[in-house]
Formats: sequence, structure tokens, C-alpha cells
Amino acid sequence: MTACLNEIDPEVRQVQEWTLHEHVEVTSTNLVAARLPAWHAVRADTQTAGRGRFQRSWVSDAGGLWLSAVVPVETNSPAWRMLPLVTGVAVCEVLRACGVEALRLRWPNDVLVGDRKLAGLLIDQFQPGLAVVGIGINGCNHPEVCDGSLTGHVVRLADLVSAVPSLGELALRVLTALQTVWTGVQNAGPETLLPRVNPLWNLPRAVQLDLDGTIVSGEFAGVDAGGRLQLRLADGTPHFFEPQNVRLLRDLT
Ligand code: BTN
Repeated sequence: MTACLNEIDPEVRQVQEWTLHEHVEVTSTNLVAARLPAWHAVRADTQTAGRGRFQRSWVSDAGGLWLSAVVPVETNSPAWRMLPLVTGVAVCEVLRACGVEALRLRWPNDVLVGDRKLAGLLIDQFQPGLAVVGIGINGCNHPEVCDGSLTGHVVRLADLVSAVPSLGELALRVLTALQTVWTGVQNAGPETLLPRVNPLWNLPRAVQLDLDGTIVSGEFAGVDAGGRLQLRLADGTPHFFEPQNVRLLRDLT
């Protein structure tokens, strides 16, 4: 590792369409990416203040992939609503190609093996028209050592495959997949994502939706081309929920 890899002076390299800034340590790659233009990305060996969903912190010790990518998308457009799903599909496709089996997504984009979390995704917006897509993948790091409360709830690539790619290689694969899936959906329409994303939920699943305080239970039946969640209630009637109205989906099985 060269001496210039710090928050001020990263190593910068071209990765396909992306300009990748690589740091030794940052607060959060999403916060560093907040200042960058479209198709730039940030990777750090460690984060001192890694951010998770719901203002939680995200353990980001050395050996995991901590990556943020700046994607151009009109805020609150239909494409914006598909971005979490596009990211989940891209990350799952990369992990599957690494040899990970029995992957599943928990809405909107937690990547699990069984009930253990392998990867988490956090989409932020800091500038109009630009999304920062944050991707954290447990690789050879030790999240359970850093935070004992994670014991039994997380899994690492190193637990699942014999040959874990280098972090630089993994970043390249994830960025390439993200750009390919995103461009495909833009060109061919959001409905083309459905056969790739819906099998990843392990449907049908009994779930509970938290609609900011109001709880609804039913059978999750996948998402539609608008990114809406379809829930079958006990009487069999289908109901659709806009993703921005669903705070949390809890598995009941
Ligand atoms: C979650 O599941 O709660 C989302 C976790 C997202 C973690 C990634 S690591 C890279 C990027 N930088 C951050 O601070 N968070 C995301």
C-alpha cells in the first residue's frame, strides 16, 4: 500500500466507466462520495464512522469492501425508486459469481445467506440528481469481534468461499455490475429487472410491513415494475405499497 492513501490524497484509478478513489481510512465512503460527480466511486480499507440504515453505525474493519458509487438519477423519479433493487441485484450477481450459494435479498436490499447478513446497502442523496450508493460487504474482516452484538447475525465471504477476491478486484466487479444492471434497466425498462430481483426474496414469505407505525401482515409476493411491494393479505387480496411508505419489512418465518 502506498503512503499517499489517506482521506486527503487517495490513489485514483480508472475502473471501466468509473473513476475510483481508494483511501486507507475515511469517516464514511458515502460522505466522501457526497462531494464527487457522477460515475466516481470511493473505496476505503476502513471507515471510522461507517453508516447503516436508520442512523445505525456500520462496523467497517479492515478486510471488508466499503464502497460508494455516485450514480446520476433524477430524485424521486421511477428510476430512483428502482435503484435499491438494481443495487441488490448487482451485488447478488457478483457474490454468486464468487461462489456464494443460497443468497437472498431482504427488502429493500439487505443481502443474506440464511438469516445472516453478508452485505448491506445504503443509498443517500447529497446533491440534486445524484445518488450515492453505499455498499458494504463482509469479506475477511471480523465484524463479530468488533461488535459482540453481531454474533450469529453476520457472515463473511471468507466463511462461504475458498478464494476471496482482493478488495480492489471485488470493487471492480461490483462497480461493473452496478453500471451494467443500471444501464440495462434504463434502456430496457424496469420490468426487465423483475425476473432477476423477485426470485431473490425467496417467495412467498410471511412478513410484517412497518408503515411508519402502522403494522400490516401478509404474504410478500414480490415487487412490480414501479418498485411497489405486493402483499397478499389473509383473505387473499393483493395490496401494493409504495417503497417510500414502507419503513421496514420484517420476516415472520
Ligand atoms: C445497512 O445495512 O444498514 C447499510 C450498510 C451500508 C454500509 C456501507 S459501507 C460503504 C458505505 N459507507 C457507509 O458509511 N455506509 C455504506
